[in-house]
Amino acid sequence: MEGTTSYSKSEGGVDLTQISLRPISLTDLDDLKLWTGDEKVARYCTWEPYTSKEEGINFIQNIASKSLWFRAICLHNRAIGCIDFRSDNYRCKEKSAELGYALSSMYWNKGIATMAVKQAVEAAFKEFQHLERLEAQVDVENVASQKVLEKAGFQREGVLRKYSFIKGKSRDMVMFSVVSNDLQL
Ligand SMILES: CC(C)(COP(=O)(O)OP(=O)(O)OC[C@H]1O[C@@H](n2cnc3c(N)ncnc32)[C@H](O)[C@@H]1OP(=O)(O)O)[C@@H](O)C(=O)NCCC(=O)NCCS
Repeated sequence: MEGTTSYSKSEGGVDLTQISLRPISLTDLDDLKLWTGDEKVARYCTWEPYTSKEEGINFIQNIASKSLWFRAICLHNRAIGCIDFRSDNYRCKEKSAELGYALSSMYWNKGIATMAVKQAVEAAFKEFQHLERLEAQVDVENVASQKVLEKAGFQREGVLRKYSFIKGKSRDMVMFSVVSNDLQL
């Protein structure tokens, strides 16, 4: 089938107590390459793998800073991925935000993204009390990301057909959400 890759569950685990979320800074520039330069990570994303230091600096200074909430996902305090949400001012003023995340493929299938998403949901509704909805749009072929959202308590709302145009192709996207009423915080 188009777009599928072989998948086997990951062997060695990671001590999840050594995973933390923290703001990103220019001191993370070298570690940033771990995921921004990773073709497997960029596959379902709008961006192409970074090849220069300048792209990394631009990411930290101009892209990450536009998010409502942005955190580096760290192992032993070294950035191995990122997670953020940004306001969706277009449809719903400031009541809705869109979640995004990426992790170096060296660390996939160890439960790291699920843990990070759960923490992002908690931060969204605790720190931004005006928020009523956190949503995520996932390519139908991106099974791992769909599993992450399901494990973190998101509801699958449906498929938006040919909703995004990414890397030269219209993509069917699954819409997921969690709303403030879903949570007992
Ligand atoms: C999506 C992503 C963040 C997941 O991170 P992760 O830390 O590996 O996620 P987790 O380990 O918490 O959960 C992944 C789940 O998907 C499962 N999985 C992964 N690939 C799969 C596949 N092809 N088929 C079925 N299940 C799959 C894993 O087994 C795991 O489920 P389990 O815990 O029930 O075994 C990571 O793959 C990534 O960075 N991808 C590239 C960027 C991206 O797609 N971002 C999201 C855009 S919406």
